[in-house]
Amino acid sequence: MTHRRRKRLIAGNWKMHGLRADLAEVGESARGLRDRQDRLSASGVTAALCVPFTLISAAAEAIRETPLAIGGQDCHPEPSGAHTGDVSAEMLADAGASMVILGHSERRRDHRETNAIIRAKLAAARRAGLLAIVCVGETEPERDAGAAVQVVSRQLRESLDDNVDASNTVVAYEPVWAIGTGRTPTAAQIAEMHGALRALLKDRFDEEGEKVRILYGGSMKPENARMILAVDDVDGGLIGGASLKAESFLAIVDAAL
Ligand code: PGA
Repeated sequence: MTHRRRKRLIAGNWKMHGLRADLAEVGESARGLRDRQDRLSASGVTAALCVPFTLISAAAEAIRETPLAIGGQDCHPEPSGAHTGDVSAEMLADAGASMVILGHSERRRDHRETNAIIRAKLAAARRAGLLAIVCVGETEPERDAGAAVQVVSRQLRESLDDNVDASNTVVAYEPVWAIGTGRTPTAAQIAEMHGALRALLKDRFDEEGEKVRILYGGSMKPENARMILAVDDVDGGLIGGASLKAESFLAIVDAAL
């Protein structure tokens, strides 16, 4: 099976950006995707925007009858309870999200999320019927020390549980030093990491591990999307800055079609 047989996913990560006025960009992205409906269907490419909690309901309204999906950026492991300020996977689904980013390096850093916490959140996402996008990635010192594959492999092993399948989980490799910096790894570096992650997935999940998609994330933009998407075992992208504007988001989707 070649990576083309895995359907590409282009997911935007708005992070802590977006007021209601910015829903216009969601609407524009959604309309742009509707205009591409035939090519999206033919290629099997799907696209999503993971917006702040406060915008999920309104964004879900704005994308109705279009091919765009809406996601969240985190969830609590429990379905409900005394956890002030937290949001559960069930709440995300209820608001209209169909996926959720888990274990982003900014959450690992800002909220000290461990692999064990991310694994618990992954089970929550599955319980609520959300597609989980589980993020892994090394820091620059880790890469300089020659430990990138080892660090990322460990994150993947410990962040996933045994109930992962291709319909409930996507992996995103995001080198921390490439996020928001304009720097990207070489095609060879991406291929090495995605190949290592693919081998781990196959080892653990057998044939299913061949089907689980592995996205690349970190300074992906219209100018480099085609190059990155052409790398073996790259099954889409997780896009930060370039997903905030419909024009650049749609240009990246076009590179995946
Ligand atoms: P970036 O962010 O595209 O702005 O580098 C990617 C991410 O953090 O998901």
